[in-house]
Amino acid sequence: MRHLIDAKTITPEYAGRLIASAEDIINNPQDYTTKCKGKILATLFYEPSTRTRLSFESAMLRLGGSVLGFSSQDSSSAAKGESVADTLRVVSGYADIAVIRHHKEGAALVASLYSSIPIINAGDGGHQHPTQTLTDLLTIHSVHKKLDNLTIGLCGDLKFGRTVHSLIEAMSQYKNNKFVLVSPQELIIPDYLREKMLKNNVSFTETEDLKQSIKDMDILYMTRVQRERFFNEEDYVRLKDTYILDKQKLSNAKENLAVMHPLPRLNEISTEIDSDPRAVYFRQAHYGRFIRMALIMDLLEEVK
Ligand code: CP
Repeated sequence: MRHLIDAKTITPEYAGRLIASAEDIINNPQDYTTKCKGKILATLFYEPSTRTRLSFESAMLRLGGSVLGFSSQDSSSAAKGESVADTLRVVSGYADIAVIRHHKEGAALVASLYSSIPIINAGDGGHQHPTQTLTDLLTIHSVHKKLDNLTIGLCGDLKFGRTVHSLIEAMSQYKNNKFVLVSPQELIIPDYLREKMLKNNVSFTETEDLKQSIKDMDILYMTRVQRERFFNEEDYVRLKDTYILDKQKLSNAKENLAVMHPLPRLNEISTEIDSDPRAVYFRQAHYGRFIRMALIMDLLEEVK
């Protein structure tokens, strides 16, 4: 039985297979309407979500399967103190595959150890969000027709932004990708990730200057400052609007830049950018359903 817990397991070969599957789903949706007939997906969301939970539920429904689950800790027996381990032992008897989002780093890994069905990590604290990365890879592939030889800017909260950590893990595995890490000093990437990039000779620079560094980028991945991970409100308020992408900053960028954001957005991208052809963040959210359909089929071994 396979799970998706950590983006480091999204190898170029695996990503290529899922992207090809997602692209076929986009082009031939009628071929997939009964692929998961009779199967049940459990969505176990201990933290809020719009895109991830609803796109997973939509994905399973579009495959002809069914869904059950909870959308907050308070509406499950976690509110009475039940552990993730016990919850997964039980849910394994109710569903064929489960998606879990939890505020604690490592929760999805724990879930996988006690589950007898495939587990998908839909975000574990500030650690990882591998299915967002699959969505991101599909989006990048749709824009640039490749996933290598790219300069990837990541801007904002690189410390707590789990989508950033997962995207670096996956995109580091392709040839000649370069990362430009743009953040205030307080929100730089975690030490473990920097050490891993250095050890693997991944090319990266760290800067606080978005205006200058945007010129070289093929992708600009903006992120929200993660209020829910801060220890105090004062620091959050001081840092939250450090970077706001507007028309003026975008005027320094390449014509084929892809402006991405995992969403939800607050102020990091001015709404005046939404109509720019380089803004792909809503397409990115839309693609989440297709790549999650591909992933569910793969983990249930229902691939075409
Ligand atoms: N990108 C993402 O994880 O969005 P949600 O928090 O709405 O699921």
